Amino acid sequence: MSPTIKNIPFARPSLGPEEEEAVLRVMRSGWLTTGSEAEAFEGEFAERAGVEHAVALSSATAGLHLGLEALGVQEGEFVAMSPYTFAATAEVTRYLGAHPLFVDIDPETLNIDARQLDETLSTLDHTRRVRVVLPVHIGGVPCPMHEIRQVIDNQRHSNSRPTSITGNSRPTLDPAAPISILEDAAHVSPSAGGDRLGTMGEVGVFSFYANKPITTGEGGMLCTHNAELAQRVRLMRLHGIDRQVWDRYRSVGAGWRYEVVEAGYKYNMPDLLAAIGRVQLRRTEELRRRRSDIAMYYNQALCDTGYLRPPADNGNTSHHLYILRLIPEHLKITRDEFIARLNELGVGTSVHYIPLHIMPYYQRRYGLKPTDFPEALRAFEWCISLPIYPDLTDEEREYVVRAVRLVGDAAYQGKGA
Ligand SMILES: Cc1ncc(COP(=O)(O)O)c(C=O)c1O
Repeated sequence: MSPTIKNIPFARPSLGPEEEEAVLRVMRSGWLTTGSEAEAFEGEFAERAGVEHAVALSSATAGLHLGLEALGVQEGEFVAMSPYTFAATAEVTRYLGAHPLFVDIDPETLNIDARQLDETLSTLDHTRRVRVVLPVHIGGVPCPMHEIRQVIDNQRHSNSRPTSITGNSRPTLDPAAPISILEDAAHVSPSAGGDRLGTMGEVGVFSFYANKPITTGEGGMLCTHNAELAQRVRLMRLHGIDRQVWDRYRSVGAGWRYEVVEAGYKYNMPDLLAAIGRVQLRRTEELRRRRSDIAMYYNQALCDTGYLRPPADNGNTSHHLYILRLIPEHLKITRDEFIARLNELGVGTSVHYIPLHIMPYYQRRYGLKPTDFPEALRAFEWCISLPIYPDLTDEEREYVVRAVRLVGDAAYQGKGA
């Protein structure tokens, strides 16, 4: 190991002079909140993602909330998802008085297991109505969207989803309509081709939180092909007011008049942040390529250890996270000891995820036990996320690999042990 111990943070945003200039431009313009920058960001994002409508928001959490609301999720209904995710994915169901319906993961991808989803939906008793499936592309690794759609198409129970949203009214329900898909694309880099994650369900939600593939510090984007759904989200993101502030500001004359037609929320994205987002969006490919290079480097350098498994990669991943899985049978130390030793060597790490079904709130509210979702539990107990971000230097990534090998090789107890 190098005599100088480095201090490598787990995450660091990649921001440069273009982002700085964009912020200054907005500061000098006299208009800081949602306006022309946010509007332009939405248009540019929609074009890149290949989707009809993109609505800029204060966070992905806001997007998940508004997406479920616009899809007509009602009190007492269920939203199917894996417990292997961040708090936001499930908490939004509770905002609406609905409930998460957890389904275990595929241990290879760490995403919701389509086969188990099928089983869960097929064996639900009729008192539990699932309105939405909410797949999360963990770390940017794609969920099996075609299989999930197939599972939904095969369902014959009387679920419903909104088929008509007229003007500003609350979604109406068609009892015979199938379950909707809301993609949690918080870890996804908006893709210009192939299977465009985040645009394959009725709704997709991206995050621009500080460590995400593209960032605005805080922020999110809701994408949909459905014009009425987009209109509902636009209404609810700003107090349920029938005209956006920017439209009122632009119009000469009765600019002050507006009507509150619903009890909405305060979920808009300010221009200050949207301006950063526009620059980051233009840099999407450059940022994604660098993450991908680092992932390839780690894969190569760590593939032959005997005590680690690299993350799943089918070529369409955004490499938001690099989640290593330790092989417990081949190691003399625990995951927590492994992390502590990496931290002593100055390598920042994290754990994705502590599954929601072992969190006090979900255990208390739904009486869940850790063993209810054994794959999620096992993945959690043996995973470590390594630093992966565009500004991680070649020297730093080399150091990370040497630190992992130093800790792991010393703790290796061979395949036969
Ligand atoms: C899987 C997942 N979904 C949703 C969110 C919420 O994103 P935001 O912080 O933009 O609200 C996060 C945040 O990290 C996340 O990891």
